[in-house]
Amino acid sequence: MNRQQFANTIIGDRSIDLKKSATAFAPSNIALCKYWGKRQRELNLPVNSSLSISLGEYGTSTTIKVIDSKFDEIFLNGNQINNNDSFAKKIIDFIDLLRQNIDFSVRVNTINNIPTAAGLASSASGFAALTLAINELLSLELSNKELSMLARLGSGSASRSIYDGFVVWNRGEREDGLDSFAEKLNFSWPGLCIGLCTIVNAQKSISSRDGMNRTVESSFLYQSWASQAEHDILLIKDAILKQDFVLLGSTAEHNSLSMHATMISAFPPVIYWTPESLAMINKIHLLRSKGLPLYFTMDAGPNIKLLFMKENEAEVLASFPDVKL
Ligand code: PMV
Repeated sequence: MNRQQFANTIIGDRSIDLKKSATAFAPSNIALCKYWGKRQRELNLPVNSSLSISLGEYGTSTTIKVIDSKFDEIFLNGNQINNNDSFAKKIIDFIDLLRQNIDFSVRVNTINNIPTAAGLASSASGFAALTLAINELLSLELSNKELSMLARLGSGSASRSIYDGFVVWNRGEREDGLDSFAEKLNFSWPGLCIGLCTIVNAQKSISSRDGMNRTVESSFLYQSWASQAEHDILLIKDAILKQDFVLLGSTAEHNSLSMHATMISAFPPVIYWTPESLAMINKIHLLRSKGLPLYFTMDAGPNIKLLFMKENEAEVLASFPDVKL
């Protein structure tokens, strides 16, 4: 099955009622057990299941408006992007999947309140918000499960940004990808905090897509990744259930560092860390050795996400005054 066939299968024989415009918001998410590696590229089917927490009001708001023009127009944070730019192309390709033979053009306005492509997962909230907005524009009334599978075609982690709170993306087994979607875990943990430390607010050198493909192709360490992820996701679910912060933080940090180990052992290596990232990791470890329960996770970029409990917020802020909560 190709992407178009997959999108057609999800939409099925729903009747389409094209509205004039639609707006949707989706939160960004941070994986505590990472998605790293595809078992099938065309449909973005992952090697392993992953588990994330959403970032609440940090995310993407997308407005999609039908316009009287031959071409789509793509705006990012108020600036028009050339349709040949890779960012615009990905959005237009995604909309093409869902246009369902109706001849219309749109203006897409994407507003991110998080840095784009700096390891803060704006592609996740971006494709999730776009999927939600198109669902509204075409009056499709898709279920969350269907929305999650469509968002997955834009970016794997977008499958998780359809929901807020804790979310699991089950890898699924099927070749047609119809069992690979995210679901919300019905647990909340009010005292759990995530702090965003922005080291670099710029486009990353290697996209997560290229980075993970290169890792799968060339890293010998990658062979152990799937079994570690399977193990870690169980521990993290258990930590959430028991509200055991040390178990959650230590497992998430270990999972993230193990993912980076597979990247570094790819060839050519995929190294997202900068000296500033490493200095921050050392600082976190030093503070932890002095008794502060502080952990971190990192994605495909140099930025660090701190994990800590509300009762330790003042101490964390004292050591990391620029952290965004
Ligand atoms: O969804 P993608 O293709 O941008 O990949 C996301 C990969 C990580 O952010 C590193 C991990 C994750 O699960 O979000």
